[in-house]
Amino acid sequence: MTKLNRVLPLATLMDVEALKAEAGRAACKYVEHGMNVGLGTGSTVKYTILELGRRVKEEGLKIIGVPTSIATESLATEVGIPLASLDDLNGLDIVIDGTDEFDPQFQLIKGGGAALLREKVVAQSSARMVVVADQRKQVATLGDFPLPVEITPFSHLTTVRALEKLLGCSVTLRTNEAGTLVTDNGNYIVDAHTGPTISNPLEMERMILNIAGVVQVGLFINMCDVVVLASSDGVVVLEKA
Ligand code: A5P
Repeated sequence: MTKLNRVLPLATLMDVEALKAEAGRAACKYVEHGMNVGLGTGSTVKYTILELGRRVKEEGLKIIGVPTSIATESLATEVGIPLASLDDLNGLDIVIDGTDEFDPQFQLIKGGGAALLREKVVAQSSARMVVVADQRKQVATLGDFPLPVEITPFSHLTTVRALEKLLGCSVTLRTNEAGTLVTDNGNYIVDAHTGPTISNPLEMERMILNIAGVVQVGLFINMCDVVVLASSDGVVVLEKA
């Protein structure tokens, strides 16, 4: 899946990878025997999935995972985590997922990896949401990271225009090597370049979802309970007040 990435020099990229690994692994302490666990998507939560797979194999940890993307389903299967469909379970105990940004109220922008729809369905079905992140993801106000919106291919340019009119900023269609990026659900992703101006994400979510061609928006409001944050000073756990 094509990822919208911040451009960084190589040395910094290597540091960031180490931070992702630390945060991803540290979050595994929230997973206990017998839990139904939502498995997020992305390069940070990848380390959570690898560590959970190790615990399943080496420590006999019994969990059932629900993946949030085809990529995560493949990785979880590869490392031996038993999987089920959300429809076959009576809710989830926890979901662990990455984020593109989080603000002081723990509101999130997600969807840089184009998996926001399944991630949001799974997060809404989870008793608790733990987010794994490195220090670059912590912001005062959401929106420096372009806001991903999943839209229907049908009349998608009309939806793009409606979003541009609503938000007063440019909205770009996400592409990959193959052309227009198509999500696991057969939809398109557009990115709204709002800048760091999203001071009322709840209201923005409501207005965006009001546009008929919009399937879902990558604003995750009042969902995140804990952020496991890796910085150059180590890993800190931030809990919602
Ligand atoms: C997937 O669509 C996203 O919501 C990811 O969870 C988010 O982009 C974080 O990914 P990284 O951990 O790769 O930055």
